[in-house]
Amino acid sequence: MKILVLHAHPVETSFNAALHRLIVERLAARGHEVDDCDLYAENFEPRLSAAERLAYHDPRTHDETVAPHVERLKRAEGLVLCYPVWNYGYPAILKGYFDRVFLPGVSFELVGGKVRPSLHNIRKVVAVTSYGGSWFRAALMGNPPRKLIHRVLRATVKPGAPVSFLAHYSMNLSTEGSRKAFMKKVAAKLDSF
Ligand SMILES: Cc1cc2nc3c(=O)[nH]c(=O)nc-3n(C[C@H](O)[C@H](O)[C@H](O)COP(=O)(O)O)c2cc1C
Repeated sequence: MKILVLHAHPVETSFNAALHRLIVERLAARGHEVDDCDLYAENFEPRLSAAERLAYHDPRTHDETVAPHVERLKRAEGLVLCYPVWNYGYPAILKGYFDRVFLPGVSFELVGGKVRPSLHNIRKVVAVTSYGGSWFRAALMGNPPRKLIHRVLRATVKPGAPVSFLAHYSMNLSTEGSRKAFMKKVAAKLDSF
């Protein structure tokens, strides 16, 4: 399967960077064709410019720096995200990826003013993330990061595509044991991608 991996963490020694390496390694070992997009390493520009906003609804005028990302996304059959939860959402660089790459004509169509999701080339999604706070604290907030995957992204990709959200909560209290157990869970999920 052609799998696009989107990674968003600036620190190479972070837990998320270790998860990213694990993800790429396990998918490659299973023979998948991995397109590894490390947004910080690729210096992805997350800001949607004035020109892009003005041309937002015209697919012929996609920004030249965005076009290769659109191609990579359209080529993918599976999508794996790896990022930490920041302010109960995506890190800005990943949020910017969605703003600039998930465009009309790419991930959705506007038909009669209504959004019609169209990223149907993606037939499997796995999100791997970590929270500093507990599951309970996230639940009190309505757990927006989980909803972004299970509701928003699920509604965008091929209908019925399996969508998994794997999270290590309470990173502030994590131990070597809890991190290893989570990595094992992630590895098992990717081995069956
Ligand atoms: C800018 C920033 C914002 C954060 N916001 C949240 C948050 O809203 N909720 C939460 O549970 N943890 C939050 N955290 C904690 C991170 O999720 C935690 O540091 C990360 O999961 C640890 O993984 P890492 O070692 O790979 O960075 C935040 C951390 C940073 C640096």
